[in-house]
Amino acid sequence: MRTTLIAACLLAATALQAQTKIELGQDKVLMHHGDNAEWKSPTLNESGWGTSNLVGNEITQRDTWAWYRIHFYLPKSIINSSDIQKELVFSLGKMDDVDMTYLNGELIGKTGSLKTDPKGYSTAWDVTRIYRVPLNSKALKWDSDNVLAIRIYNGDGNGGLCGAPFYAWVPGLIDNMDIKAKYAQIKGREFASFTLTNSGLKIQKGKLEYQYMDPDNGKIIKTTKSSVTIGKKSSKVINLAVDESNPCRIRLVYSNGHATKAGTYVPILTPREPETPLLNTVGRYGLRPGSPLYYKIPTTGVRPIRFTVTNMPEGLKLDAENGILSGSVKTPGEYVLNIKAENAKGSDQKQMTIVVGQKIALTPPMGWNSWNCWGLSVSQEKVKSSAQAIIDKGLADYGYAYINIDDAWEAAKRNADGTISPNEKFPDMKGLGEWLHSHGLKFGIYSSPGRVTCGNYLGSLNHEKQDAETYNSWGIDYLKYDWCSYGEVYNQEHDATVGAFIRPYLKMEQYLRAQPRDIFYSLCQYGMADSWRWAEFVDANSWRTTGDITDSWRSLYDIGFVQQRKLYPYGQPGHWNDPDMLIVGKVGWSANLRDTRLTYDEQYTHISLWALLAANMLIGCDVSQMDEFTKRLLCNREVIAVNQDILGKQAKPVVTDGKIEIWMRPLADGSHAIGIFNLGGEDKMVNLSSYYSAMGISAPKGIRDLWRQKDLSTTDTSYFIPTHGVKMLKLK
Ligand code: GAL
Repeated sequence: MRTTLIAACLLAATALQAQTKIELGQDKVLMHHGDNAEWKSPTLNESGWGTSNLVGNEITQRDTWAWYRIHFYLPKSIINSSDIQKELVFSLGKMDDVDMTYLNGELIGKTGSLKTDPKGYSTAWDVTRIYRVPLNSKALKWDSDNVLAIRIYNGDGNGGLCGAPFYAWVPGLIDNMDIKAKYAQIKGREFASFTLTNSGLKIQKGKLEYQYMDPDNGKIIKTTKSSVTIGKKSSKVINLAVDESNPCRIRLVYSNGHATKAGTYVPILTPREPETPLLNTVGRYGLRPGSPLYYKIPTTGVRPIRFTVTNMPEGLKLDAENGILSGSVKTPGEYVLNIKAENAKGSDQKQMTIVVGQKIALTPPMGWNSWNCWGLSVSQEKVKSSAQAIIDKGLADYGYAYINIDDAWEAAKRNADGTISPNEKFPDMKGLGEWLHSHGLKFGIYSSPGRVTCGNYLGSLNHEKQDAETYNSWGIDYLKYDWCSYGEVYNQEHDATVGAFIRPYLKMEQYLRAQPRDIFYSLCQYGMADSWRWAEFVDANSWRTTGDITDSWRSLYDIGFVQQRKLYPYGQPGHWNDPDMLIVGKVGWSANLRDTRLTYDEQYTHISLWALLAANMLIGCDVSQMDEFTKRLLCNREVIAVNQDILGKQAKPVVTDGKIEIWMRPLADGSHAIGIFNLGGEDKMVNLSSYYSAMGISAPKGIRDLWRQKDLSTTDTSYFIPTHGVKMLKLK
């Protein structure tokens, strides 16, 4: 009897907690094209309405309308979760372009303005809608069904709802509290470091509960309690010692008697690398006949390490101390190298096939690009410092090799002979290339087929041949070629065929491929005209499939999950879908850097998904400021091995069950890599075995947790998947 009572109390407590914020549209959002004033009515007959997924941007005709309807239950108890009890607030994401939002038939907000409004049409596509309704409003129907009806006008481009998640809540003092957690090393010891911030003008006083959880099954191992007071506009740091060899999630819950706020510390999952050498070489490496090779054999383990390579083709040489392969091979063919790395603690051996032929990039490129951190403020010094850190912090030991300068390196004017020069921020391009190559790294650059780049620097229009030759003279190994102002040429051509999109990329291809070196050709035109269908035709090694990524869950969700769903048939060795660069670590797109806004769980999701998608792995942060969490996130050899798998098959979604999605890719050794993702707002337990038939597989003989690098039981397949988090497995 007693136990039942306790269980019931627990249930009630959880239910109350869950009600403090209502997530709207989780289950269903209805949609109808057109415009009809009656569609705001709460009692509308909705038969004939279709569905939307909140980020759809489904209105494809300009100057047209659509309506969306969301039903939700509004519990009166939600009022008690607030100590202010004044209004119900709706946060409804972005809407493209103008909306009028009704609650049970009453207008509660409008953003943007219509043609018929006094000041004329103006879009508000980039504004998150926040609408407030007083708690005594007749529009609110307590303890029953409510209907939000959203009328949207699309002025241009695509439009509609474009910003999950949607929430409703009753603001209280707790809204001024924020709890953030991160990994910290202090005097050689490791801590879960929580920062509690009170941004309000009233003191926060309440209780703290620390819940230590097993990261595999979400079970609470222990809890401890204390109380806390945080002055107005101030913060408090609480460091809890953690044992990295026994990783554990720690949820810190603050409660003020009305509501709770929590922050979760997510541990480093990648085990520390052993002192013995481990080779992280790629299985197959494409090289064109006669092209120079620069390849630092990626190897972890304590230095000094001595390398030996047998069966090397004529023309290649090895720097045995630094493990750098260089030289060139004239005769096409497949050369299977036996590579050995030895140190005082032990040795490792692996084969790597150098495929001398016309195809390069047999596995996705790994490296760094300046854009997501430095934006237009990039300089030679900043590039060099990230490159140096790639070496010093050991990222090169996992295969990160391309060091790519993005926009803003170009001088304002071409030289008298039409050749291009770098600006004063890049005093010595050739020297930079030589320095990178001497360390076994590769050198990348950026341009546009248009008159100017997106950052308004000189583009390659009408100078394609000269630019390709200049790149060769600087030792360039990677070109990102960004559409930008090429739209001007496109508009003049009046050619509505796909050919108009292909033309500028075909042009540069012929000059690039004429150079006596291998230049990775990276198309950047945001996926226009379904570039994945024709990019291989211009010998693109990768092509961006979407607009620019940014460090938010919405961007990651939209680009990674929504927009890559159908692209798996197009990626293959030599030619890769590119969902854009990585958004972990210190980013900022400017001289001012900040920590990524993704949570640690979202970062695991990001890297797992990019590995599964066989996506370009270009780090976008300042590597010189990279912390231990980010390094270990980017340097998990088993996760990277999925990205670099030589079969080159990209994952596809095989299960969509509510907010749980499973993406799966076949690997060269006959096994499969999967990601079980939780895209919803709450932690979930997922039993993998219940999905085997949907996944088209039989029960696996082995299950390996790739982040933890450990084998799991094949009979107990229930996993804890935190909100926006992932379990990445290899099924044998
Ligand atoms: C964008 C591109 C970004 C970055 C930027 C530079 O068009 O998608 O990745 O290269 O231009 O201006």
